[in-house]
Order: sequence, then C-alpha cells, then structure tokens
Amino acid sequence: MSNTLHIGIVGLGRLGKRHAENLALRVPGATLVAAASPVAEERTWAEQTFPGIATYTDLPALLGHEGLDAVWLVTPTSLHADQTITVLKAGKHVFCEKPLALEVEDCERVIEVARTRPEQVAMVGFMRRFDPAYAEAKRQLRDGVLGDVFHIHCASHDPIDPHGFFVKFAPTSGGIFLDCSIHDIDLVRWMLDGARVLGVSAAGTRRMYPALAVCGDIDTAFATVCFEGGVVATFHASRTSHHGYEATMSINGTKSALTIGGGQTRLPIIAEHDGQRCAEGQPDFFARFNDAFLLEARAFVAAVRERRPSPLSLEDAREATRLACALRNAVVQPATIQGLA
Ligand code: NAI
Repeated sequence: MSNTLHIGIVGLGRLGKRHAENLALRVPGATLVAAASPVAEERTWAEQTFPGIATYTDLPALLGHEGLDAVWLVTPTSLHADQTITVLKAGKHVFCEKPLALEVEDCERVIEVARTRPEQVAMVGFMRRFDPAYAEAKRQLRDGVLGDVFHIHCASHDPIDPHGFFVKFAPTSGGIFLDCSIHDIDLVRWMLDGARVLGVSAAGTRRMYPALAVCGDIDTAFATVCFEGGVVATFHASRTSHHGYEATMSINGTKSALTIGGGQTRLPIIAEHDGQRCAEGQPDFFARFNDAFLLEARAFVAAVRERRPSPLSLEDAREATRLACALRNAVVQPATIQGLA
C-alpha cells in the first residue's frame, strides 16, 4: 500500500455524495480514486465533481480498480452484509454504513470472514460516537462525574418528508428501529460498556406515512430496554418532526445529569415578533452531524495507516442489530392497538 490510502466509494445517493466529498477533500492521508453506482446521473455527478475519478456501475467492477486499498459502502442496508464480505474477500479494508445487517445471522457471516483477515480494517458507520458532545458524555460517565447512571433517554426525530424519500427508502432499511434508533442503541451500549440486556418492550404507530404499511414499517416508535445493573433506557424515534431534525440523549445519574443535543437550530437566531419567539430547527442530520461524519472518516483512515484495529468493533455492530431486531419484533402494531380500542 502506498502511504496515501486509495479509496473507492459505492453508492452516491443522499449520504454517499457527502461521504465522497469528505473523502476527496477533507481527509488527510486519503484520496478518492473511484466511485460506483448503478445510476448514470450519479456517476456523472462524480465525474464532474471529482475530475479524474474512475466510475463503475457496481462493486465487482470497482474492485478491479488498480491500486485500490479500501472501499466505502454507502448502499441500501439490505446489501451491506454481502458487500462487506465481498470487499473483505477481495483483500481490501472496508467501511460500511450503518447498520451492518438487518439480521444477527448476517452480522455473524461478516464477522466470520473478518476474523480470518485481522490485518484488514472493517468499520461500521456509527458516526455519533465521534460527535464531540457524545464523546464528552462518555468521558464524564467513565470518570464518574454522573455517579451511578440509572436512566438514559434517547430521541431521534427526522423532519416530515414531503418528497416521499422515506417511503421509497423504507423497504430496504429494516424499519425505524434498525434504521433510525440503531444510532441510539449503539450509543447506549457504548455508554454502558456493553451491559447485558434483560428485557425489552416496544410500541409504535403509523400516522403521517400510511404507505409505510406496504413494508410493515411505522413512523413513530417507542421502546424501553432494561439492562443488567438496573439501568433503564428509553427510546423515541420518529419521522414526523414538525420542527426539523433533532437527536437528543439525556443521561441521569446519582450525582448529576446531562442532556446532549437539545434545542439546536439551523442558525443561532431566535426571532421575536407579535408576542412570539421562533427558532428554525435543523434541516437534517447533515447539519447536526457534519463534523462527526468527517471525524469518523479520519478515524478509519488513521486506523488503516497506523495498522490499528477499527475504533468500532463488528461485534458491537452485531449487538446493535440484535437489540434493534428485538425491538422491531416486540412492537405492538397499530392494528393491535385499534383492535383494543
Ligand atoms: P440512497 O437510496 O439515497 O442511496 C443509495 C445508493 O446506493 C444510491 O447511490 C444507489 O444508486 C446505490 N445502489 C443501489 N443499489 C446498488 C447496488 N446493487 N450496488 C451499488 N450501489 C447501489 O440511500 P442513503 O440515504 O444514501 O443511505 C445509504 C446507506 O447509508 C443506508 O444503509 C443508510 O442506513 C445509511 N445512512 C446512514 C446515515 C447515518 O446517520 N450514518 C444517514 C443516512 C443513511
């Protein structure tokens, strides 16, 4: 491998384009040399945005690119496990967007292959761990500033989507717990050093996007998870926020408490008129986690160049999938609720 990491990206959709820009322009020690997408407009976008980049229609073709060191997968979630295995077997380092897979068995298949190739870095995109606020909360927890933690509440809200992206995206996403709450699930497990789960309950409803019924997804979800040691975590995820994107976590301990991410606005402006105070919410997850995506990419590149293991283990990714699946399976469906009424 040359000193600079040669990366190829697969998937240039909503998030892939952002990752591509980071890798091409903002990650020291890395260069984006190739991109793959089955969509012609996306390949043209890459060619125009990154002059000289090689483009391909799929992963197997991209893997033939000479001198490639690593592959960045930003493809539909249902493809992650098989594509990660393909990349590992081709001898490349791999970054895969979250979640690693939609079933625990598929995570296991990836882990089995990765174990035989310990010199290759394999990392899953739980970028919130790289957000400075969550990292500071983790430090305070570890240093005992909060005392004994007994309750963590997480809320992740996507803005209402008038364009129907969610409805098209949902069938390959695994549903709201595997797609959206998975970040909070990973963070809670991280904060609690992987504490054992004793029990879960979940409920949800579907009101703003009736079309999600086709794939059995919901647009509002709640869950409670009891961990060994007496910690309770509660989760609220929605695709129905009227005020924009928001991700918050409150951690309650015996000595003190903290809340991450509350009340963030698009710009730090509060307008006042006619007896009202108004602040514009954040438009999307890019606005909130732009820096985290960048720090995540830099951490991957540093791990490869310094021959260190991935800062996030595949086993952690599997456990996040396990818990998200348990919540998905525990959901009391809206039909059941109506039946009770
Ligand atoms: P998207 O639907 O906008 O993009 C998917 C991309 O994959 C498109 O470029 C499409 O052409 C490409 N693609 C489809 N089939 C393919 C195939 N067989 N081979 C190669 N490329 C293929 O989806 P989006 O929102 O960009 O999400 C992609 C992944 O990123 C998902 O797994 C999602 O969970 C994850 N994601 C993570 C976020 C985070 O907060 N870390 C936020 C948003 C998405």
